[in-house]
Amino acid sequence: MGKWTIGIIGGSGLYRLKGLEHGEWLPVSSPFGEPSDEILFGSLGDVELRFLPRHGRGHRIAPGDINARANIDALKRAGCTDILAVSAIGSLREELEPGHFVAFDQFIDRTHSGPGGREASFFGTGMVAHVPMADPVCPRLAAMAADAVEAAGGTCARGGTCVIIEGPQFSTRAESHMYRQWGGDGVNMTALPEAKLAREAELPYAMLGMVTDYDCWRDNGHDVDVAEIVARLHANSALALATIDRFLAALPAQRAPSPIDTALDGAIMTAPEARD
Ligand code: ADE
Repeated sequence: MGKWTIGIIGGSGLYRLKGLEHGEWLPVSSPFGEPSDEILFGSLGDVELRFLPRHGRGHRIAPGDINARANIDALKRAGCTDILAVSAIGSLREELEPGHFVAFDQFIDRTHSGPGGREASFFGTGMVAHVPMADPVCPRLAAMAADAVEAAGGTCARGGTCVIIEGPQFSTRAESHMYRQWGGDGVNMTALPEAKLAREAELPYAMLGMVTDYDCWRDNGHDVDVAEIVARLHANSALALATIDRFLAALPAQRAPSPIDTALDGAIMTAPEARD
């Protein structure tokens, strides 16, 4: 048993946290490059908190340019034990209405990773590792996040599949229909490779999606636009902040170990004598 240090990654519309004790923005450097911003160090009661705005304060960084390796590495160096990501999502289901939340349990990767694209692993030539990703989300964190939305007065779906697209453009109507046929419930541009890197860093990760729009699959000729998303984010920001407060307040006093804390055990293929 130990203490919680919760890393919160704030997506579009969530660039600050209020009510932190001793909140201080501090630079954390990483050998993987520049994180999106400084990290806000603080605490709330017994829980240590580290907050990182994924797009930087003022929303300066496009989804494909986010250095998720540096972000996850910096949060790990800042002492995080667990990560809760809060992200705007488009809905692919009628019942997931704008303003609702989804505590996702599955992801489908449609991002471009690899050379010239998003760097999606801390490992590579010289040190080869394959971590399990069958269940990319920590069920304990996801359940606590869904409880927190409800305690704050919101509506949250428990479980769902989020399709992560490369962006920065929104999907075509044909893509949006295809994602629904694949079983997608929501669409977003940023939860991957973040969740994969968190797993490689042995950090339990959950993603709370905040529905901002219906994407473009509904045959009413309506397209997604940024103005609609921003208006929804503003309307929901008090609920998102209240959710985070409730989440932190409801954490058990002691953190029981998670199997994800040791995700790298048995995942490294490279023989010890061959490692760089
Ligand atoms: N983030 C918020 N709404 C989105 C959408 N419709 N597609 C991709 N990312 C989003």
